[in-house]
Amino acid sequence: MTDKQLPGSPFVHYKNDSLMLEEVPLTQLISEYGTPLFAYSKAAMIHALNAYERAFKGRRARIHYAMKANSSLGVLRVFAQRNCGFDIVSGGELARVLAAGGKAEQIIFSGVGKTRTEIKAALDAGICCFNAESEAELDVLNEVALECKKVAPISLRVNPNVDAKTHPYISTGLKDNKFGIAHERALETYKRAATLKGLKIKGIDCHIGSQIIEISPYEDAVSLVLDLVDDIEKAGIHIEHLDFGGGLGIDYAGETPPAADALWAKLFALLDARGYADRDIFVEPGRSLIGNAGVCLTKIEYLKTGDHKNFCIVDAAMNDLPRPAMYEAFHAIVPLQTNSRQTANTSNVLYDVVGPVCESGDWLGKDRSLNVRVGDGLAILSAGAYCMSMSSNYNSRGRAAEVLIDQNVTTLIRRRETIEDLIRQET
Ligand code: LLP
Repeated sequence: MTDKQLPGSPFVHYKNDSLMLEEVPLTQLISEYGTPLFAYSKAAMIHALNAYERAFKGRRARIHYAMKANSSLGVLRVFAQRNCGFDIVSGGELARVLAAGGKAEQIIFSGVGKTRTEIKAALDAGICCFNAESEAELDVLNEVALECKKVAPISLRVNPNVDAKTHPYISTGLKDNKFGIAHERALETYKRAATLKGLKIKGIDCHIGSQIIEISPYEDAVSLVLDLVDDIEKAGIHIEHLDFGGGLGIDYAGETPPAADALWAKLFALLDARGYADRDIFVEPGRSLIGNAGVCLTKIEYLKTGDHKNFCIVDAAMNDLPRPAMYEAFHAIVPLQTNSRQTANTSNVLYDVVGPVCESGDWLGKDRSLNVRVGDGLAILSAGAYCMSMSSNYNSRGRAAEVLIDQNVTTLIRRRETIEDLIRQET
């Protein structure tokens, strides 16, 4: 295995046959912290952020990290320290991001089902903007704002009916999706919002999906949104900011998504050509900021060989890393050490890499060619986004620990969940 074969981050690499994250050998990490363990590279996060910052240099633009991708405090703090804004979707996320040092006035609140309690908490905190997703939500935002004697800053999330060409479960900008207000109804809805005293119209928003690896769906969405802004402004309603959501994909298995700066060079050209260079531009990237910065480390418990299939049974499972079970997603799986095998002169075997959870859907990788023994460590790559944040306690499994790597320094940012943690709220 050479570095070139590893998809994803340049910060995950082999050195003397030992897999490293930045300057830390991952075998050392698992002997210290156990498995399953998530490890994140701070340099990889900053590297990903830099691509957006390069694109936005000299522009009125702000990055709002979509924290649903990974909402661990230690991760949020890295982005907060770099003055990122945040895209949140619940009161829980609001509390987390404030605890991590995020600024309320740089928070935007997305999601189709905001409750009155969540809306009030966000108004009290003084967030930047609510991305309203329906006409009914506008009425609730208005009512809660009037009750609190406040004005709710809002954008409407419009659904441009653009195909993001991604997995159906993570496509959000199509007519059949539950998200946003249909493009055809948006102008009327803006006119109505303008009459509600508890609301202040700030911007417009769209987010068409996730793991997008082509530029054209973004160009289509931007054009459609700008058509709408032309009409909204003709109706006398000023749009201060344009929010184009997140969605940029990463390399899991050799995909070649555009870099954030390349994507945005194209989109700014479009904005400039249409006369919208003077507006504030917002983005809400999640996966592209954290996905390739993380690995999930696991240990092999059993090797089970059979006539039809071989199983490599590891101590991480669908509760730790649900993406394969939920979307049949591919994550590369590689050994932490490569040398011992070659000297032992053994050969690779095809395995399904599976966890101990009692579900056939509990697999992490299918038909993976590995040269491994019981007790070996494996790394599941590109596991920074939508893994820990979607983890669960299914099968009464405690959640994994997490560490943040900064060059050769390792910080435990979440201790492993214990049995006591698991039963604490129950009687
Ligand atoms: N903004 C909004 C309104 C969103 O709904 C999302 C993601 C984002 C931003 C961030 O999108 P990103 O840049 O991360 O693509 N669990 C799935 C992904 C679900 C994405 C949900 N919304 C997965 O593991 O692939």
